[in-house]
Amino acid sequence: MRMVDLIKKKRDGLALSKDEIEFIINGYTTGDVTDYQMSALLMAIYFNDMTDEEITWMTTAMSQSGDMIDLSAIQGIKVDKHSTGGVGDTTTLVLAPLVASVGAKVAKMSGRGLGHTGGTIDKLEAIPGFKVELENDEFIKFVNESNVAVTGQSGDLAPADKKIYALRDVTATVDSIPLIASSIMSKKIASGADAIVLDVTTGDGAFMKNIEDAERLAHTMVRIGHLANRQTMAIISDMSQPLGNAIGNANEIKEAIDALKGEGPEDLMEMVYTLGSQMVVLAERASTLEEARQLLENSITSGAAADKFKEMIRNQGGDDSVVDFPEKLPQASYIIEVPSKKTGVVSKIVADKIGVAAMLLGAGRRTKEEEIDYAVGLILNKKVGESVFEGESLVTIQSNRENVDDVLKVIYENIEIGDLGEEPVLIHKIITE
Ligand code: URA
Ligand code: CA
Repeated sequence: MRMVDLIKKKRDGLALSKDEIEFIINGYTTGDVTDYQMSALLMAIYFNDMTDEEITWMTTAMSQSGDMIDLSAIQGIKVDKHSTGGVGDTTTLVLAPLVASVGAKVAKMSGRGLGHTGGTIDKLEAIPGFKVELENDEFIKFVNESNVAVTGQSGDLAPADKKIYALRDVTATVDSIPLIASSIMSKKIASGADAIVLDVTTGDGAFMKNIEDAERLAHTMVRIGHLANRQTMAIISDMSQPLGNAIGNANEIKEAIDALKGEGPEDLMEMVYTLGSQMVVLAERASTLEEARQLLENSITSGAAADKFKEMIRNQGGDDSVVDFPEKLPQASYIIEVPSKKTGVVSKIVADKIGVAAMLLGAGRRTKEEEIDYAVGLILNKKVGESVFEGESLVTIQSNRENVDDVLKVIYENIEIGDLGEEPVLIHKIITE
């Protein structure tokens, strides 16, 4: 087989066979297939798409390109959750301890942020002492004993995805349905959970800009999960504006703590209950979604959810007193309010651009090498559909530099105040087939 013939085949709109896809993925993992040939193939896939069969073969080959983690030493059904990416998406930080607190086993592998999107692993590192790189045996021990652990993508998990993702990032081939589906599902399958809950985001802050594309991505991933014998479901959620109020790292930990005490922003709480109920039912800790939601609400009211977060933080070497004293989290030196220039209703908050504003402060990284400042970020004081008076604060900037003119400019350009504005529908669809 020659790579050039396979590139030509995909360029001409034909489907690749299982053997051909394995040849490509194995060859690229070992280095026999070069970056320039893989780049050409990725661009051909971007334009000519893949059949369901091709996507399945590609996912399987990618998941088997490195370690397949065996979680069978953990009793019970292990659930994982994955989002296709967002801005201010604090959901996992709340869900992991909350769902664990009602008895489900949460074995969560998370990623770091890049560009305008945040990553759960970075946010957890804002907690003093918290260790995000767990050995497999520690990971299994914590899930067995405490029902929960969150770890980064370990050394040799789906290395084909790591290489391909880095290449996609610099060849304008990230936002492709077959490439996103195989990337996410290869990692989920290799990391060993029995049940997978997917949050497919749509809107300005997401890779999928419209609902039709998000639906196709969701169906594709659910089907791949089922073929790999994993219980899989997806929700399609709105990411036209950031989720919740906090965008950053330490401030999102604080927001998660508030949510675990029942005091989180409304949209974040709705996401948490919707995804959490699905996870609890898949883990067979409740037989209906209503029953699951009741369990989750009770756990928040009783304080069990916040206690579980403390236990998770202690296990992973962190200072659990931040749950009772969030002021112990890294704090920014300058707190700057952004007043509204007129009276009206917030009609638009462009999620990805607001993510960029947080990144400019240092809450995210432009390149993989950049360091994050955990203390900085943004708090949205008004969300879409809320009214605001001239002079009232739209956003609070948490900064470690005094001059934030560049950040102010991005914020003013990307928050619109009009006469009308409607709260967007948060959850568009639930997909189980
Ligand atoms: N998240 C991933 O892990 N891969 C993608 O391709 C997109 C989002
Ligand atoms: Ca948030």
